[in-house]
Amino acid sequence: MIQNNINPLKEAIELLEFQNFMGADEVVSDTPNIHLWKDSHRISFEKKAAPVKEISNKQTNFSHQGFAAPAIKVDIKANTVEELKAEARAFDGCPLKFTAMNFVFSDGNPLSRIMLVGEAPGEEEDRQGLPFVGAAGQLLNKMLAGIGIKREDVYISNIIFWRPPGNRTPMEDEVSACLPFVEKHIELVNPKLLILLGNTSAKALLRTNTGITRLRGKWTEYKGIPCMPFFHPSYILRQPNTKRLAWADLIQIKKHLEKSEKWTASLHTSHSA
Ligand code: URA
Repeated sequence: MIQNNINPLKEAIELLEFQNFMGADEVVSDTPNIHLWKDSHRISFEKKAAPVKEISNKQTNFSHQGFAAPAIKVDIKANTVEELKAEARAFDGCPLKFTAMNFVFSDGNPLSRIMLVGEAPGEEEDRQGLPFVGAAGQLLNKMLAGIGIKREDVYISNIIFWRPPGNRTPMEDEVSACLPFVEKHIELVNPKLLILLGNTSAKALLRTNTGITRLRGKWTEYKGIPCMPFFHPSYILRQPNTKRLAWADLIQIKKHLEKSEKWTASLHTSHSA
């Protein structure tokens, strides 16, 4: 006789483990809510995602081979960082919006001469609605402090404004959807130094397929702005042997800032100055 060995508790735990593995690791509602199956969302997504078909082939002055994710043309009207934030928040073209808890745009001083661009919000960032407030953010704060820079004195954002489920690496379409906003963000902040944290950020903004291990520590330019690709703090946490290289890159950044005329004094001045 075949025994029915199904243990409902064990089965439920296995199902939960599977969901967690697939990235469904947050309870956001007491009832199931499959946003993408709702007609209203699907219709609005299809309508608003239409510009995805229009692709621009903007070139940067970076000499690496072209990165496969071109910027999508979205008609961005913002003339200020606050307007851009509102426009990005209302944008429905990135599907991650419908699975994330919060919109995560930026933190720090938008008048700073130093802008850092990371990858995407993680669990803690999604909870708080702020970039780099989890373990990676704490390491970032320490690294900045190591070269005499306070977190409040820099401006921090990400390539993606919504947390990818389970903290997976953002997909090319997701990066492409947010990229026009990120490019406009950099244009509006107009920093004097851009630090790109990790593969996703460096590849997308420098339009390259070259990985961060080869890009890091080498000065380049993003649309005329001095730019340093840097290991992502999460990667440094996972690979502590990268700390030595990260430190060498921080020293380069410090020297660059010391060389830049009156950089400390100008940290808070407005861009028109
Ligand atoms: N990693 C990122 O790239 N950005 C964050 O905001 C947090 C972790």
